[in-house]
Amino acid sequence: MTPIRWPSEAIWEAVEPALPGFTVEVLPQIDSTNTELMRRARVGQLDPALLVAERQTAGRGRLGRQWHSEATNASPLASLAFSLGVPLSPSDWSGLSLVAGVSVAQSLHPDLRLKWPNDIWFRDRKLAGILIETASFDGIRYVVIGVGINMLQRSAQGLSTPPAWLAELLPTIDAPHALLRIIPSLVRDVHAFEAQGFTPFHNRFAALDCLAGQAVTLSDGTAGTAQGVDVTGALLVHTAVGMKTITSSEVSVRPSQGLG
Ligand code: BTN
Repeated sequence: MTPIRWPSEAIWEAVEPALPGFTVEVLPQIDSTNTELMRRARVGQLDPALLVAERQTAGRGRLGRQWHSEATNASPLASLAFSLGVPLSPSDWSGLSLVAGVSVAQSLHPDLRLKWPNDIWFRDRKLAGILIETASFDGIRYVVIGVGINMLQRSAQGLSTPPAWLAELLPTIDAPHALLRIIPSLVRDVHAFEAQGFTPFHNRFAALDCLAGQAVTLSDGTAGTAQGVDVTGALLVHTAVGMKTITSSEVSVRPSQGLG
């Protein structure tokens, strides 16, 4: 099998000036790129790093779910899995997960939309997911932004909704090129968030928000209508008992009907 040519150098050259000490590493296989960067952070390795895995054996999703990707040893380009780890010290952390979603979606294709807080959807199907975790070490807060993208058609087995894949929108793009499109702008956006918080991203999120105006059901069974997000990135849901502000990433939000 021909080895995959990852644009590690091009990414490093684009990012390192803004992120001194930045490294790019591609592994043929690991349990989870998020788990690995968190392990490193816990032993004090807090330098900015991009870790890409051609295959994950224990990919993790939000809300304690597993993240299954189609990538196998035979077909490692069927999905893209990477984590960006950076030390970060914003004055307010609220909205970071939305910022990551906005950044990844906008660097890939104008037809992509976001399902709060940061699932990337194409029409009524999920194309990519983002898992953000943080660790503190010696007073430094390290954030790991893990992104998983379906690149090629994949089966719907075990998924609550059928998936979308990037080749539907961009037939000629492969995982290395998608990575090159995403990383420099993701680093820029994370830095903008660190300096200015969620405010500059509020309109960008609103333009991509596929839940706005939709009937939704929260994981506690409450029904309502999604009304966009507030200045902190919290989801506003109009319910029978008034407006609910959903901040917890532990609350899952389902459109009552499919997304159009
Ligand atoms: C979700 O939609 O629930 C989030 C999925 C995040 C998956 C990515 S793949 C790279 C990184 N490593 C992981 O174990 N998870 C994230």
